[in-house]
Amino acid sequence: MASPISRRGVIKGAATSAALASAPALGAPAAQQALTRIAFGSCAHQDKEQPIWDLVNAWNPELFIFLGDNIYGDTEDMAVLRAKYDKLAAKPGFRTLRRNAKVIATWDDHDFGVNDGGSEYPMKAESAAIFLDFWGVPADHPRRSHEGIYASYLFGPEGRRIQVILPDNRTFRTPLLGYSVEPEDKGQYVVNPDPDATMLGQAQWDWLEAELRRPADLRILASSTQMLPDAPGYEAWINFQADHQRLLDLIDFAQVENLLIISGDTHYAELSRLDERMPYPLYELTSSGLTEVWPVFGPNRNRIAKAPLMPNFGRLTIDWGAPSPSVLMEVQMLDGSIGISQAVSLAELKQPGTR
Ligand SMILES: [Fe+2]
Repeated sequence: MASPISRRGVIKGAATSAALASAPALGAPAAQQALTRIAFGSCAHQDKEQPIWDLVNAWNPELFIFLGDNIYGDTEDMAVLRAKYDKLAAKPGFRTLRRNAKVIATWDDHDFGVNDGGSEYPMKAESAAIFLDFWGVPADHPRRSHEGIYASYLFGPEGRRIQVILPDNRTFRTPLLGYSVEPEDKGQYVVNPDPDATMLGQAQWDWLEAELRRPADLRILASSTQMLPDAPGYEAWINFQADHQRLLDLIDFAQVENLLIISGDTHYAELSRLDERMPYPLYELTSSGLTEVWPVFGPNRNRIAKAPLMPNFGRLTIDWGAPSPSVLMEVQMLDGSIGISQAVSLAELKQPGTR
């Protein structure tokens, strides 16, 4: 399908807001520690038991990334939203995780405040303040200096530096078009071909492009909703055709290397891979949910592996050993089994001519 975004369109406006939004690494120890175990997950219902934390804590991650739907807020009443965060805060396994690991987060629709919602949600500023407080973002942190909760973090020393980029897929997102079909509960959304329809909004795009150009030995783009699935299904980047193509173009034209994508939201876990028109294989590991399970998989022609349908979390094991560092991408299931396992060498994730 032809791209509505020109190459020039990808490049324009770079870096105008990036300096404000770029976040330093969390805490002094993390800044110099080369991370080797990063866990992530999404979709944790605060009213349910959350036994998955026993497995997460047994794996002992140095960093845990929450990918959204961290609670099911779904309200315009901020007292209700706070009370639901309080329920998550009281979970013993979650408390253990926060004691033992660095924890960072982005949000998705339910913790933003409305199912499948975007910029039309009237309480987004108030919800953002509660989000940033709950996740312990300091008052003077750059993340609080702009609208929306997008951020990036750096961990580890030069040569073993990991960048985690957390976009905000909700605050600026154009409202969804309608369903292409009308099943009983939730539909497959129509792809929006309007070049002005957006996931991120212009200011966040400028920031993201600048972030992707910063040096990093491993770059983790941590998106609440899936980026690579190419069929119109439930919520995903493909529903915003212009922004979906813009992201893929940017990886190519900005010479972005060492990139892995992680995502959540779906209530199932799968691994996607895109080769077509990309400078190197682009992987996306989706883990969902920490408590939530969907009965079927959505359409995804880029899926190369799928996990059993049960609660799960994602884990990245980084082997920094020379000559070629590698990442083992896995999904661990609630029964302890490994549902997905894929190793990738960082030497594969290079632009042609630099391998
Ligand atoms: Fe979601």
